[in-house]
Amino acid sequence: MIELQDVSKTYHLGEVRVPALKHVSLKVERGDFVAIMGPSGSGKSTLMNIIGCLDAADEGRYLLAGFPVSLATHSELAELRNRHIGFIFQSFNLIPRINALRNVEMPMIYAGVNPETRRKRALTALAIVGLRGREHHTAAQLSGGQQQRVAIARAIVNNPDVIIADEPTGALDSQTSQEIMQLFAQLNAGGKTIVMVTHEVDIARHARRVIQVKDGQIFNIRYQ
Ligand SMILES: Nc1ncnc2c1ncn2[C@@H]1O[C@H](COP(=O)(O)OP(=O)(O)OP(=O)(O)O)[C@@H](O)[C@H]1O
Ligand SMILES: [Mg+2]
Repeated sequence: MIELQDVSKTYHLGEVRVPALKHVSLKVERGDFVAIMGPSGSGKSTLMNIIGCLDAADEGRYLLAGFPVSLATHSELAELRNRHIGFIFQSFNLIPRINALRNVEMPMIYAGVNPETRRKRALTALAIVGLRGREHHTAAQLSGGQQQRVAIARAIVNNPDVIIADEPTGALDSQTSQEIMQLFAQLNAGGKTIVMVTHEVDIARHARRVIQVKDGQIFNIRYQ
């Protein structure tokens, strides 16, 4: 599903070069569940942004579902993102003043889905994440765990093959975090490929593989 070959990424801050990823190679099969761990600044988010087609590598090859992302144009990248990837972030990234239903409809508005289908699919996604009855609450009227469920519903509503989650439980208490992981396990059992960054061992244990990143390189892969 995901194949990175010798991928590097360097940020430039004025005169300063910040190497964020150095010659990373990684293969993630369809249906896999991978946790990425490593110290702050080790390149985890950079790796996620490249896998999610939010950012481009400056060296190496990236194949997503067989498509050469590293050669994609700007609009092809956007198209790949819409078709294949659902994003979940630590801070939920919901639009605060609109309700759960509208937040979940958002990616379908970009994809040009008609209003009736949009609504139906958003309601289904909200039911999958256990939020039936909360459709008309705004983000401010929901708990952190519920807000993350809305974000998950939004991530799955276009039926992506891959879910990219950067510290999805970073802002949640441990009980709520485990509930969110149950939901991830359920999505994975339903065939979604999941790549998730976490700092917590208790969260990483839900994955099938744990990849340790350090100084922009993969230094250990553990199967569990
Ligand atoms: N937009 C940017 N411009 C310049 N440097 C950046 C940028 N984004 C990240 N970096 C640098 O690249 C390196 C990797 O950053 P990255 O955000 O990938 O780390 P991380 O492993 O996700 O860290 P954290 O656990 O704190 O989220 C760091 O040294 C960081 O300072
Ligand atoms: Mg990060």
